[in-house]
Amino acid sequence: VTLKKLDVLCVSDLCVDLLVAGKARPRFGQAEQWVDDYTLELGGSANIFASQFAKLGGQVGVAGRLGSDSLAGFVARSLKDCGIDSSRVRKTPGLKTGLGVALTARNDRAILTYAGSIDATDPSSLDPAWLSQCRHWHVAAYFLLNKLKRTWPAWLARCHRAGVTTSLDTNWDPEERWDGVRELLPLVDLFFPNEAEALAISGKKDLEKAGQSLASSGTMVVIKRGNKGSVVFRRDAAPVRFPGQALKRKVVDSVGAGDNFDAGFLRAWLKGRDLKACLALGDRCGRASLAAAGGIRGQLRGKVA
Ligand SMILES: Nc1ncnc2c1ncn2[C@@H]1O[C@H](COP(=O)(O)OP(=O)(O)O)[C@@H](O)[C@H]1O
Ligand SMILES: [Mg+2]
Repeated sequence: VTLKKLDVLCVSDLCVDLLVAGKARPRFGQAEQWVDDYTLELGGSANIFASQFAKLGGQVGVAGRLGSDSLAGFVARSLKDCGIDSSRVRKTPGLKTGLGVALTARNDRAILTYAGSIDATDPSSLDPAWLSQCRHWHVAAYFLLNKLKRTWPAWLARCHRAGVTTSLDTNWDPEERWDGVRELLPLVDLFFPNEAEALAISGKKDLEKAGQSLASSGTMVVIKRGNKGSVVFRRDAAPVRFPGQALKRKVVDSVGAGDNFDAGFLRAWLKGRDLKACLALGDRCGRASLAAAGGIRGQLRGKVA
């Protein structure tokens, strides 16, 4: 028997976020304005997910591409600091590390994104040998990892043949076409949409119908509902509901709440916990991340035995 080193492996939308805070609105005409603050952060929803999974004591790795520039060094160091295995991340000559520049104002933000390494991972870089090195495969940022969209069906089927369980969090589709998502559902054990995504993908008008429709493929559908809690739908069983929890601290921003929820739920699920416990840990992780800027700073720490 080979010992599986990692609990979870996923391809990452590797990038850096430059968050600029202040009331200033960008103005052309060479206008220079002061801002209140900035932070340079590890970006990418797969990294936020992986970082939270690691803080719960899980062994997690990300695969992907980085540019051959100084931001690549920043990302590599950040992954290491977060306890994420980056041995499957490759620096690529001629490529720039992806960058998101976000101007954040009260409850809103304007974001400019350079793709670069974010969607540079192509099908040939997925190594089947990885499937003997992990227990679970998570697909994050489906709509950003453009070159892999056509590959996921075969890859996820291969995961199952190798005894590796699977999950999917697409996040919002910028084109709102939800291309290919329904075809993936029979191939994943867990699907993690938020409420808006569940309604859009199913084409249903209410949550119950959306949950039932998505779960009809046999996947377990875990719907995140912001301050209204979360709920699991399955094909042959009653829904399991987790109520919304009041926040004790003020919301700084909601970046990564859903990715952090996924990490908590999955950590408990891979530990064999019941669904209520999975929802509860997902919820704690989702809420913890609201109290600090970005998706990583506020993450919950604590080993799951
Ligand atoms: N305002 C909030 N109050 C309480 N919990 C929240 C709030 N926003 C998010 N959460 C927690 O984080 C989870 C994920 O957030 P949600 O906004 O639903 O997903 P996403 O970030 O993918 O859009 C929620 O299911 C909940 O557990
Ligand atoms: Mg999300």
